[in-house]
Amino acid sequence: MRLALKHAALVVLLLSIDLRAAALMGPTGPPQTQPPARQKRWLVAHRGASAYAPENTVPAFRLAAEQGATFVEFDLRFTKDGQIVCLHDDSLERTTDVEAVFPDRSRPGATAAAPRRWLLEDFTLAEVKRLDAGTWFDPKYRGTRIPTFAETIDSLKGRSGLFIELKSPERYAGIEKMMLDELKAKGLDRPGADPRTPVLIQSFTASSLELLAKTLKTPLPIHFLVGARDAAPWVTPEGLAKVKSFATGLSPEKVIVRDNADLMKRARELGLLVTPYTFRASAVTGFSDVRAEMTHYLDVLGVDGVITDNPDQMPPVKSTPTP
Ligand code: G3P
Ligand code: CA
Repeated sequence: MRLALKHAALVVLLLSIDLRAAALMGPTGPPQTQPPARQKRWLVAHRGASAYAPENTVPAFRLAAEQGATFVEFDLRFTKDGQIVCLHDDSLERTTDVEAVFPDRSRPGATAAAPRRWLLEDFTLAEVKRLDAGTWFDPKYRGTRIPTFAETIDSLKGRSGLFIELKSPERYAGIEKMMLDELKAKGLDRPGADPRTPVLIQSFTASSLELLAKTLKTPLPIHFLVGARDAAPWVTPEGLAKVKSFATGLSPEKVIVRDNADLMKRARELGLLVTPYTFRASAVTGFSDVRAEMTHYLDVLGVDGVITDNPDQMPPVKSTPTP
């Protein structure tokens, strides 16, 4: 009996690994007769579990994994000395104590709201590591540091997937190759390399994704991020066909899915996955709460996953009615 149970568990494990590997097949993989979308609803934790811990830090990544994230999303940029770190903004003042640590290192800002700015590209990694990236969120996170890409991978490997956003890569020559080299060093540069740590790359910069897919020929899945203001040329049949030429999916601002009735059908026909952003409990309109909002997108609009600040609010899988 015990042997039979063990055997059944192994079969389930192998099946789930197979499904996940199929779902993550890159642009150079075998043709997909059935879009992988229907097999899995991805829970993507936006900048980690960023509603509950400081964004883009190891505590937020770890908490997201504990809350069951399929992937943890984070943003990558270069420091002054060309090291890859996790930071959303191009500057440090919103999420660190840079103003106190380096009071004389700012540049003039362009607006009254931000009269002085401390750009990441003006600071070396050693300097960045002196900054506190946790206290701004909650004093209990005092001493939390901005992680490097390598430290981010180490914090998540075996716990969750990596949903890597290259932020403004046009400003950081060579970041695509350097990112792939780091993934290779960690044994994560191919789909299915570590079934517990799937990897996906996304960016708002189409040219960077084209470089990754066509020149660097990464087999990893790629999503094209698109905001509502820039959506018009991309949601047409021609626009989506162009996306298909360099990506395996689309990460649209969620209103794009809501406002374009044909988008999901067209994406399905092309085999593109759709993972909209950003679902957050602190900004829900038209729904009772963020769980209800995510339920609508997953079960009614039929998206393949949600990118959310609140991974603990992911709705359960809808049960299939018995005929
Ligand atoms: O993953 C989608 C989302 O991260 C894109 O927006 O500005 O939060 O990086 P942003
Ligand atoms: Ca992001």
